Amino acid sequence: MKKARIILDKDFIIGEIDKRIFGSFIEHLGRAVYGGIYEPGHPEADELGFRKDVTELVRKLDVPIVRYPGGNFVSGFNWEDSVGPREARPKRLDLAWFTTETNEVGLHEFADWAGKAGSDLMYAINLGNRGPEQARDIVEYANHPSGSKFSDMRIANGKKDPFGIKLWCLGNEMDGPWQMGQKRAKEYGRVANEAAKMMKWVDPSIEVVACGSSSSEMPTFGAWEMEMLDECYENVDYVSLHRYYANPTGDTPGFLARTMDMDDFIKSVVAVCDAIKGKKHSKHIVNLSFDEWNVWYHSREQDEEIWKQDKWNRALPLLEDIYNFEDALLVGSMLITLLRNADRVKVACLAQLVNVIAPIMTRNGGGAWAQTIYYPFMHASKYGRGTALKTLTDSPVYSCQDYDDVPYIDAVATMDGKGNVTVFAVNRDSKEDYELEIDLRSFGGLSLSEHILLHNDDVRAVNTEEKPDNVVPVAGPGGTVNDGRAIIKLPALSWNTIRFSGK
Ligand code: AHR
Repeated sequence: MKKARIILDKDFIIGEIDKRIFGSFIEHLGRAVYGGIYEPGHPEADELGFRKDVTELVRKLDVPIVRYPGGNFVSGFNWEDSVGPREARPKRLDLAWFTTETNEVGLHEFADWAGKAGSDLMYAINLGNRGPEQARDIVEYANHPSGSKFSDMRIANGKKDPFGIKLWCLGNEMDGPWQMGQKRAKEYGRVANEAAKMMKWVDPSIEVVACGSSSSEMPTFGAWEMEMLDECYENVDYVSLHRYYANPTGDTPGFLARTMDMDDFIKSVVAVCDAIKGKKHSKHIVNLSFDEWNVWYHSREQDEEIWKQDKWNRALPLLEDIYNFEDALLVGSMLITLLRNADRVKVACLAQLVNVIAPIMTRNGGGAWAQTIYYPFMHASKYGRGTALKTLTDSPVYSCQDYDDVPYIDAVATMDGKGNVTVFAVNRDSKEDYELEIDLRSFGGLSLSEHILLHNDDVRAVNTEEKPDNVVPVAGPGGTVNDGRAIIKLPALSWNTIRFSGK
């Protein structure tokens, strides 16, 4: 068996983990809302039409915040369409996804659902075909107590108390040519600055996220962040990062190494934020909101076919990636990467939550089940709260097409307020089991309480409605702890949650 070693120290702290790092995302896209969380007439529908089975699966993930209502969708969205009497709400062509948006579910209904799911809202405003004026209007509608046009409109629409939405996205992927109202960096930075100022004048307690590049692969990545932040630095709190990975050639080692890119991406955006801080002689720190991240490629061809046959229908089954076991391993590594950067990544959203590139799938009129990627997210969200610890890892490494020195063992550790320590580890080696030594001496007397393992011999294994338990966590082989040194077995290609409890 191959060996790897981790040294932990309770005083080697990366930072406090902002619980919003375990956020997710629901867009008015495909069957995320209609046929996903909301399906009136379904046997599981509650009094408002929300599926209780889906809400329960979301609750188990413990998602503190959900980004809404888009995504690309938001750049053509009028928030006013989604409030007020349902029968008066307009049907609109959605030019982002070539479907028809009926506005049956809007801000009030979604906020009700989020409450049931145990999540706060992260609301994205439209800076595509709209501007700062409509942005301040929706903040007034959502957050102002009463006595003004939009706050009184909210009250008339049945919500006396403000929604109290604390986190707002200043548009979405505004550098992308696919975006309605695409902008140049300086142009966006100006609009974002004015929107942020006016929104914060309405409610000074809010925080706002400026759009970074829609991916690190954009030719303008870096320059966009510099120019945009130069215009709005003092008035924004976070810069967004979005990244999706794919494995179209079936290269598992190369695919599992993609978090090397994610880590570089994060470090580059931090460097740009801090460079602008220096340039402006500012005391203000802009942190990161990695508000779209996941694997996305399985459904791309299928979507082209759907659009050929069925443009403009409501709730087309778009972006319905069926995730396999190796996707779950990469999602695990992406979570490890976010935790490892917890000093600067304060918000992150697994994109998305239901049906659309999602951990949870449903069938219209049928069941709801957890995809493979559900489990690493659930473990990290449940056990990865508290403080992120520096993890000195000594692991054999490999080379693949894009990277050298990829550690076979990818790991991070967290410590909760009671002194319990959790190590999350992916074994990227497709052939070898590892004996992992974890040096825990500084914690004094930790014992192994649980080893949760996700493994399948077939990297292409998936969960389906008929076989929802094909790829599920089991008790791992565990190991021993002697004199503050744990020896744990990590099977080849596995996601591991190793929990140690204090005295
Ligand atoms: O999450 C799906 C889409 O991916 C979002 O709408 C967009 O922001 C990104 O390009």
